[in-house]
Amino acid sequence: MREKGIISPALQEGERQFEATLRPKRLEEFTGQAKLKEILSISIEAARRRGEAMDHVLLYGPPGLGKTTLATIIAQELDVPFEQTSGPILQKKLDLTGILSSIQPQQVFFIDEIHRLLPDVEEMLYAALEDFRVDILVGTGPGARTHSLPIPRFTAIGATTRQGLVSAPLRGRFGLVLRLKHYEWPELTQIIKRSARILDVAIDDEGAEEIARRSRGTPRIANRLLRRVRDYAQVRADGVITRPVAQTALDLLEVDRYGLDEIDQKIMLTILEKYNGGPVGINTIAASIDEEAATIEEVYEPYLLQLGFIDRTPRGRVATQSAWEYFGIQPRGRRSGNQPTLF
Ligand SMILES: Nc1ncnc2c1ncn2[C@@H]1O[C@H](COP(=O)(O)OP(=O)(O)O)[C@@H](O)[C@H]1O
Ligand SMILES: [Mg+2]
Repeated sequence: MREKGIISPALQEGERQFEATLRPKRLEEFTGQAKLKEILSISIEAARRRGEAMDHVLLYGPPGLGKTTLATIIAQELDVPFEQTSGPILQKKLDLTGILSSIQPQQVFFIDEIHRLLPDVEEMLYAALEDFRVDILVGTGPGARTHSLPIPRFTAIGATTRQGLVSAPLRGRFGLVLRLKHYEWPELTQIIKRSARILDVAIDDEGAEEIARRSRGTPRIANRLLRRVRDYAQVRADGVITRPVAQTALDLLEVDRYGLDEIDQKIMLTILEKYNGGPVGINTIAASIDEEAATIEEVYEPYLLQLGFIDRTPRGRVATQSAWEYFGIQPRGRRSGNQPTLF
């Protein structure tokens, strides 16, 4: 039976330590995202040469694609201290004042889930990002006054899965705005082989590729599946992960052949069965599966587009021929396949 959440891109309970051991530390160990890496390495190199703080960076993209990893890599490559917080943790202006007033010159300050900052905390961040100053209230009552303290130039790195929820003024304060995309199978295969080396697991190319295909384009899921297949290989096979071993293990865990998770499947079945392949609008899909339209657009749809299961048209989403085939469903009232048969 499918274990709950095994192919969910979200970080799971107890996974943090495991992830930390597999996290690349240098840009050259970070597989894929070639264009983004090139842009970053130029900025890093330029900042290093000038001995200045690098521009602020906003990273966005679905969960598990490497945003936190990149933030730590940037700090390592710049050879500066790294400090981390997140939108939900920063509940009060005072928390942010504390962090900002002890910031080191050129250091990296990473704010995860930056779309979840409270409005007054966000506003305070504007001044820090733009003018490198922090406003603090001195004294109490009628005699209280605001002092504006200068702080050293630093690099803020924001991460978000929901670009649409980052306000324009906040986004505008980041010099670099970079999007992470889902990974291609060959890239994931490489990531899996690297992780296997670190975990000291024997795996061949085909075994790694099988896991890669089922990882939903997501390194976090790839590493998680590798761990489970390793268990299976050690207990039920002779410890080596080959394609048949990976297949049997992942079938047992009910991991879809393309790594589709429950929501992906609901989206596809809605388009295919309920709307006969579309076109159907994103809001209609959202309402039928009880999800937010923006979440579908920013978190789920990119993978389905990359797989070639849906197309975006001006009139809405349309299922492709490969989606009909994969789900083994026939469109109603159309000749099967829409194409002339050859026999
Ligand atoms: N490009 C990559 N190469 C190798 N491993 C990666 C890569 N991207 C992500 N990972 C691994 O995937 C896991 C999740 O990455 P993380 O940075 O936490 O994702 P995010 O912050 O975007 O949710 C980490 O264990 C990390 O080591
Ligand atoms: Mg993260």
